[in-house]
Amino acid sequence: MNKIIEKLEEQRNLESDELKWLLENNTEELRQELAQRARQVSTKTYSNDVYTRGLIEFTNYCKNDCYYCGIRKSNQEAHRYRLTETEILECCKIGYELGFRTFVLQGGEDPDFTDDQMVDIIQKIRKEYPDCAITLSIGEKSKETYQAFFKAGANRYLLRHETANEEHYRKLHPKELSSANRKRCLKDLKEIGFQVGTGFMVGSPHQTVENIIEDLAFIKALDPEMIGIGPFIPHQQTPYKDIKPGTLEETLLLISILRLMLPKALIPATTALGTINPQGREFGILAGANVVMPNLSPVEVRKDYSLYDNKICTGDEAAECRVCLSGRMKSIGYEIVNNRGDYPNKI
Ligand code: 5AD
Ligand code: FES
Repeated sequence: MNKIIEKLEEQRNLESDELKWLLENNTEELRQELAQRARQVSTKTYSNDVYTRGLIEFTNYCKNDCYYCGIRKSNQEAHRYRLTETEILECCKIGYELGFRTFVLQGGEDPDFTDDQMVDIIQKIRKEYPDCAITLSIGEKSKETYQAFFKAGANRYLLRHETANEEHYRKLHPKELSSANRKRCLKDLKEIGFQVGTGFMVGSPHQTVENIIEDLAFIKALDPEMIGIGPFIPHQQTPYKDIKPGTLEETLLLISILRLMLPKALIPATTALGTINPQGREFGILAGANVVMPNLSPVEVRKDYSLYDNKICTGDEAAECRVCLSGRMKSIGYEIVNNRGDYPNKI
């Protein structure tokens, strides 16, 4: 067996030059070997279970202007929507009946949803569904605000660091946003007691191999409960419309490396991965991922939550993502389970 893979498996970490070698020698053979090891590791903790999260994309208004994102505020052509509190609760109800025990409230940074209103929504979901986990994915806030969300009953928070390198961060975001503040948010969230998810886009504009190595080191040090990575996919109404997408192969390699570095992490096979390849999510699970996030948003608004081009699950045929994913997982020998799917030892 490849010595570097052996070391990665034993020590759960590698030197930068070893990671660089893996990233620069990404052959089918290497990927298969890494994937096999990664699967073994994830099976040890999670068996062949795949956890699901019901994703509710409740607003696509956003005050930020990230250069890569289709719902950036400068995109005048985006058709904006917000779900009402009643609609959000209705999504949870449908989701609960389908078997979901985690709801992910994801949205742009929309000032129209005040902290008080978010607290209210969280409390209502908490009261109605005491056996469910509530995950938020609503961007950068103050520590006090995060604290209020936690107290209201939220359990988990997703906030991708996007890139650990300040200079690279500058190329992806306007000056109002900084890598330092993103990292501050992640630190605050951890301190408060959230199960925290971070991550980055594979093949994002101007990303170098060195950047990825920094991302891996950042993630290893943060030790998050969840890690979301997916390929960058250009959106036609953004400044980065002509940058080529990240590849399936590089994303799969990184999923396997991350699984070996953080054996117990919850790692989704993302929608972006399913968008660049019809079987991307299946390949993601086979590379060591153990979570899928079917869309629970009302079908009418799905096409509008367009972070990148050709996003899957936006047509009428996608009303039942859960059934679709359940079949997909079965086809590769994995089973979707109906529980909260917490990080081990953190309930
Ligand atoms: N391609 C892939 N992923 C994207 N995201 C935003 N825009 C794109 C894109 N064009 C990701 C970001 C963000 C998450 C919600 O979606 O990493 O954190
Ligand atoms: Fe949404 Fe298959 S998961 S249509």
